[in-house]
Amino acid sequence: MASHQIFLFGLLALSFSLVLATDNNPIFDFCVADPKAPVTASGPICKDPKLVTENDFYYTGLDKPANTSNPQGSKVTLLNPQLIPGLNSLGISFVRIDYQPGGINPLHFHPRGSEILTVIKGTLEVGFVTSGPDYRFFKKVLKKGDVFVFPAGLVHYQKNPMNVPAVAFASLNSQNPGSIILANTVFGSKPEIGPDILAKGFQLDKNVIIDGQQKF
Ligand SMILES: *[C@@H]1O[C@H](CO)[C@@H](O)[C@H](O)[C@H]1NC(C)=O
Repeated sequence: MASHQIFLFGLLALSFSLVLATDNNPIFDFCVADPKAPVTASGPICKDPKLVTENDFYYTGLDKPANTSNPQGSKVTLLNPQLIPGLNSLGISFVRIDYQPGGINPLHFHPRGSEILTVIKGTLEVGFVTSGPDYRFFKKVLKKGDVFVFPAGLVHYQKNPMNVPAVAFASLNSQNPGSIILANTVFGSKPEIGPDILAKGFQLDKNVIIDGQQKF
């Protein structure tokens, strides 16, 4: 391909990914989700703007630590249109993540959103892996006030390497970014994926696979 063809192809791919990967642009000032109306493929239906109040754009309680007593030792609190109806149609969401000492937010990705995260307490090791065929691994240790970006669709994690709790806030450019946790997908699907498929795919002993499936 000539270089201008490659450029055009790149531009086309980019515009496709923009169309497919991000939420629609709003066409009203707001479209506060009507909790009583059905959800459509493009999101919840708007409630009558005359009935909208300031509380539709409001949430309180994000200063409170979440319960991190679980096997991973972390908890994600996602503010989406179910919790803040005024977020509907705006293409953003927000999370607080709590990590107990040694806790991880396990390998996962968001099919519909990039993420920008900041540490407000403690220390986090973060990382993500690019798509194939390179599968490059980027890793960084963040302290309070540091900011890191996880590009949409890439597998990433955070880990609290210290012996004190850590807290991060993050924003995602989708009102419904989705979260695909790899371990849950691989070992915890319902019904289970055949252990022979996983054993061959991961090049692991079938007993290791069955052990994983029992844990998830
Ligand atoms: C935290 O969650 C664990 C596990 O679900 C539960 O046993 C425990 O009571 C919870 N702690 C608080 C303070 O709610």
